[in-house]
Amino acid sequence: MPYASIFRSDLFRDQVALITGGGSGIGRCIAHELASLGAKVVLASRDPAKLERVVAEIKEDGGQASAIPCNIRVEAEVTALYDAVIGAHGRVDLLVNNSGGQFVSPAESISLRGWNAVLETNLTGTFLMCRGAHQHGMSEKGGAIVNIVADMWRGMPMMSHSGAARAGVVNLTQTLALEWAGCGIRVNAVAPGLIASSGLSNYPEPVQEALAELPKELPFGRMGTESEVSAAVVYLLSPGARYITGETVRVDGASSLYRHAFVLPPGAVAPAYRGLHRPTTAPKGLLGDEE
Ligand code: ADE
Repeated sequence: MPYASIFRSDLFRDQVALITGGGSGIGRCIAHELASLGAKVVLASRDPAKLERVVAEIKEDGGQASAIPCNIRVEAEVTALYDAVIGAHGRVDLLVNNSGGQFVSPAESISLRGWNAVLETNLTGTFLMCRGAHQHGMSEKGGAIVNIVADMWRGMPMMSHSGAARAGVVNLTQTLALEWAGCGIRVNAVAPGLIASSGLSNYPEPVQEALAELPKELPFGRMGTESEVSAAVVYLLSPGARYITGETVRVDGASSLYRHAFVLPPGAVAPAYRGLHRPTTAPKGLLGDEE
């Protein structure tokens, strides 16, 4: 059975699509969908074994795929990646920056090393990949970039590094869209909410237990699927989105408008400031410190 894409099967025929982090989860799904639509897919991440498994899957389905191991935090490796892609295919038409990673920790316990690692992977790595695409032909031939971010709109408790980095990518997306509009490069982002993907299995057991309880608190009563994220990515890469750039599309079933994603540790009621020197008719009992 082929990938059940809603898009035309020759939509990206012979276009070269570079996907970071395509070895698992959402990236793997995007790779499958793009390959099913005729793209020559190049997967790039740090784990060659995972990449090769996905390449084999795509080839088994009749698609075109290859893998190039790359640590997107290392400038020289990103340059080598682009040199290899251009050497093999002559161009890059589509780029999906899906590589990312973080760990769960209260902000005060994050070491500088840990902070920098998450910022380098999610923000700097995305910048290096975008800049590489511009430098390796996209600025002449045009192209489309989609950056995968996260639901960090109301802060990201226990993942301050990732929230800051992803918010940075949203702004980078806007800036690059403006700077590169004139050379035909569109830059957009997709912000997935809670997605039932293999990435969730990487979190420690207590986080897994909390995640299992979350679906009933979401507006749709469920998490999203990898293919629901992929469909948005494919649309933004497609000619149908040629007047869309600098945009971040939320694929989260309105959960960013609604849910309490994390239970904060209980703490003291924050003391209220009362500057008004006259009596007030405001209802009592709302400030946590009244009799
Ligand atoms: N996925 C997670 N971290 C990565 C990195 N540094 N480079 C490429 N893919 C990654």
